[in-house]
Amino acid sequence: MHALCVCFKICSKVLKLTLHKIFAKTLFLGKNLIFLPQCHSTNEEAKRFSKSEHFPEGSVIWADYQEKGRGQHGNVWISEAGKNLLFTIFLKPEKLAPTDQFKLNIVLSLALCESLEALLPNHKVEIKWPNDIYCDDKKIAGILVETTINAGKIEFVYCGIGLNVNQSHFSLPNATSILSESGESMNREEVLESILMHIEKYLEGINRYSQPTAEKYLHKLRWKDEPHIFQIEGQEQVGTIIGIGSTGKLIVKMGNNRRSFDVKEIVFIE
Ligand code: BTN
Repeated sequence: MHALCVCFKICSKVLKLTLHKIFAKTLFLGKNLIFLPQCHSTNEEAKRFSKSEHFPEGSVIWADYQEKGRGQHGNVWISEAGKNLLFTIFLKPEKLAPTDQFKLNIVLSLALCESLEALLPNHKVEIKWPNDIYCDDKKIAGILVETTINAGKIEFVYCGIGLNVNQSHFSLPNATSILSESGESMNREEVLESILMHIEKYLEGINRYSQPTAEKYLHKLRWKDEPHIFQIEGQEQVGTIIGIGSTGKLIVKMGNNRRSFDVKEIVFIE
């Protein structure tokens, strides 16, 4: 893959950008690929780029290092420089209602799982609701989907993905990478291309309700149909995940009741 370097001025800072050659195996994702050696957060860069005219749907911003990588719930996403995949895909989905936003989580989670299953065939790759990707019992990837809404419709989507690829030491005990699990270093561009191909395949059907896709997601859901301890309103309670509601809420059976939870309403304990 060729790469050519140009200088680009953003907010009075001159950044060296590497424009990678387009991926051969995708139709539109990553055809406009912008590589940044360093940035605050690829989601923030994608938001900035999307204000310009030359930022087509499917553009990907990929960074080697994020100074202020962002995770879900206001957490930080920390990743060693040059080891992992840190990227944001820019989408403009037509006719996707805000209540259907969860479909994006399904698409992205399944695509990541399928790419990882091919690389880690002897491991169990699962989705921790709503969109954390686990390999055996450790987190290997996280997804941060941010949207803008215009006239009641989703206008822009920034799909931020952090996947641990070649990092071997982590400060968090439950984090892992492809290298840690397989013992092999991976070519990050090849992993990225595979992920984009899988996402593209699922994106085709995102506006139609896809029962098989929803079933695949449920099939890969961590802790499904097993009793576990959750924290709800500060209290630990035993429950069993039995499904997902139409807007993506987690449905948990607790005693004789079925309850549904938003992401901020339930904590997974053990
Ligand atoms: C999470 O599990 O908390 C979500 C983590 C998402 C991290 C990625 S890395 C690329 C993109 N840019 C960010 O600042 N965050 C996402």
